[in-house]
Amino acid sequence: MLVEVRNVTYTYNEGLPFETTALEDVSFSLRPGCFSALIGHTGSGKSTLLQILCGLIEPGAGSVLADGTDLYEKTGAALAARRRIGMVFQYPEHQLFGETVLADVCFGPKNLGLSDDECRERAFESLRLVGLDPDEKAGISPFSLSGGERRRAAIAGVLAMRPELLILDEPAAGLDPKGCGEMSALMRSLNEEGTGILLVSHDMDEVAALAKQVLVLNGGRVAMEGTCEEVFSRGGELARMGLSLPAPAAFMSAMAQRGYPTEGVALTARQAARKLSALFGKRGGNGV
Ligand SMILES: Nc1ncnc2c1ncn2[C@@H]1O[C@H](COP(=O)(O)OP(=O)(O)OP(=O)(O)O)[C@@H](O)[C@H]1O
Ligand SMILES: [Mg+2]
Repeated sequence: MLVEVRNVTYTYNEGLPFETTALEDVSFSLRPGCFSALIGHTGSGKSTLLQILCGLIEPGAGSVLADGTDLYEKTGAALAARRRIGMVFQYPEHQLFGETVLADVCFGPKNLGLSDDECRERAFESLRLVGLDPDEKAGISPFSLSGGERRRAAIAGVLAMRPELLILDEPAAGLDPKGCGEMSALMRSLNEEGTGILLVSHDMDEVAALAKQVLVLNGGRVAMEGTCEEVFSRGGELARMGLSLPAPAAFMSAMAQRGYPTEGVALTARQAARKLSALFGKRGGNGV
């Protein structure tokens, strides 16, 4: 699904003394099967934009088109388009409520009007996708799952709606390193199977490892848009917006400040190692 955000503006408490313009003239596109990251300092408008993208709050001006259909038209086509976009809020496990994991994951498909058999089939498929064995977990209470498993069960509930674009607000927040790794692997495998992903993250290493397109919001405006290489090569501007670089890029930038300049940006430890080897003219035995 192609999502086009066109000249979107949103103001909270419009006309009141404490009105806040959260988004101003925001335009960008998300291509079918994209893996895009949305980054920005706190208060830059990320959550407001996500809510607009998933059909929750109508922009004050501008439009959001999904394959050409305006999400906010009062038509059946707009409702159908909104249902093709899935949203995983921050700490989605706080929204689990079903008596069993199965009941919880079935909630969305049931609302789509699917039969019990179809709901069950989708729930089992989604649980497998997130790495939870349905034979083992479907019948138990979601509250007896571990923290990481609960989050995955909550995501399964969104996946059971079979979204073409999945929006995730800080999906790794609060998870231990193993849980973070599993979340990255899950997003990557969903994307490889064709689901478009829009990820909000404060973790630049996660963004560099996963995203193909990066959007930077600053003060409610799109300040940058490009590949990881393009965006993370502008470290000075990012720093002025209160944003950091992925650790390998920050390390190489510190080296440059000490008079060891290198070409291009290093997004991974391997890339940084390669640049350092080139800089010092040495080559290790394992061909790094
Ligand atoms: N319900 C609201 N009422 C009034 N102002 C709001 C409301 N929600 C957000 N804002 C304001 O809109 C602006 C954008 O907020 P938003 O929550 O979209 O930012 P964010 O980028 O998601 O921040 P964070 O990284 O802290 O989650 C901020 O100035 C915020 O104070
Ligand atoms: Mg937010």
